[in-house]
Amino acid sequence: ELARIPHPPHRIPLLGDLLGASRRTPLQDSLRYATELGPIFRRKVFNREFVFVGGAALAADMADETRFAKHVGLGIANLRPVVGDALFTAYNHEPNWQLAHDVLAPGFSREAMAAYHPMMLDVAARLTRHWDAELAAGRAVDVPGDMTKLTLETIARTGFGHDFGSFERAQPHPFVTAMVGTLTYAQRLNTVPSPALVWRAARRNEADIAFLNRTVDDLVRARRSAGGGQGDLLDRMLDTAHPSTGERLSALNVRRQVVTFLVAGHETTSGALSFALHYLSLDPRLAARARAEVDRVWGDTAMPGYEQVAKLRLVRRVLDEALRLWPTAPAFAREATADTVLAGEHPMRRGGWALVLTPMLHRDPEVWGPHPERFDPDRFDAQAVRARAPHTYKPFGTGARACIGRQFALHEAVLVLGLLLRRYELRPDPSYRLRVTERLTLMPEGLRMRLERRTRTS
Ligand code: HEM
Repeated sequence: ELARIPHPPHRIPLLGDLLGASRRTPLQDSLRYATELGPIFRRKVFNREFVFVGGAALAADMADETRFAKHVGLGIANLRPVVGDALFTAYNHEPNWQLAHDVLAPGFSREAMAAYHPMMLDVAARLTRHWDAELAAGRAVDVPGDMTKLTLETIARTGFGHDFGSFERAQPHPFVTAMVGTLTYAQRLNTVPSPALVWRAARRNEADIAFLNRTVDDLVRARRSAGGGQGDLLDRMLDTAHPSTGERLSALNVRRQVVTFLVAGHETTSGALSFALHYLSLDPRLAARARAEVDRVWGDTAMPGYEQVAKLRLVRRVLDEALRLWPTAPAFAREATADTVLAGEHPMRRGGWALVLTPMLHRDPEVWGPHPERFDPDRFDAQAVRARAPHTYKPFGTGARACIGRQFALHEAVLVLGLLLRRYELRPDPSYRLRVTERLTLMPEGLRMRLERRTRTS
């Protein structure tokens, strides 16, 4: 079945296609292979063979929920020791997936989002206070570092009524350090067979997991002794029974869900904001257009209302385009639910799976034209979106297991970009060249920029 799928030319016995492969940037490595090998290819790492898909027609076929479903493998399976059967890492057949999905989905409804909005504004004000201080001190700002503070505080506050105090710390909160540790470890397990993983790294990982669990257990204990919160995600996890079965999440499952939401709820949004700011800083005319939109839609209101966020259409397109080039959760795996033929060409057995490489899908010239590397938010104006085939843009995954936090992330990111554009001019560091780090997620490494207080012309 694999014979028709191309692979890199120089295979080494035992090591497979490891030559030239990078442990630190497996995704960007695969993207390079994709340009040589085409819309579907395979790579062998030691004795394991992986199939990668990036062509739009193939990816669209794999989005067919009647024949394919999420596959829990690779990096995601490596996270099972941390978060087990919580939403992101559950196998499709595990009962806790449906239970948690049904109990938690209302936490992302319009009404829920509207209630989070004032808290999001509050956290954003902490960011702008910090940036005002950096600006006054003549310092450049650490974009990914500060976006991570912002998004962690936002999910902690809105979801769990918790304050990590990130903006009051010079170093990242130890929760973030432990999280980065476990994500990096999980990614390394993909490319290094476990016996070769040094004992120390495994021990370090156990310590990281223990720290994540301890942090969450403290948070849950505090909520229980407070006798409940204001109906946030944590209250749902602790108190809400399933609407039809009456079942509740177990204590162990709650812990796994809290870790999942604290991690999934901030790491990818932080990257998305950072990439968007990077592109805005490189294109002052685009930034000026976006800023003019913010002025027009928000006027002088210090605190834009919930409804005013989705009206920033151009700002949203900037974010969409940043997530096209750098979808910060850059791959998802799909498995055949019965024997089938992928795109009428590649036979697949039930359980057979392939990895959809989203950055590759988002660069398919058949869909995005001859210059897919060019940053152009107008690719997302209403007309262009209507004209495009379905399943060609998948930063939030696909089907039943797509991102539950999509609206949350979009609302938060557009709100924050709007607030930042309104307040600052972004001055890129002329020597900065985009370098993308990988720890299952993508992040622009070392991105710093200078700010100027915006002088309003209107
Ligand atoms: C699932 C991307 C923000 C929580 C996913 C998946 C992707 C994704 C691609 C599917 C993974 C797969 O198929 O294996 C993103 C991106 C985000 C973002 C790019 C930001 C720009 C968030 C936020 C939250 C969240 C803010 C929570 C507040 C989750 C959860 C799942 C998930 C719980 C698992 C859903 C399930 O399987 O039922 N996300 N996400 N994500 N995301 Fe997000």
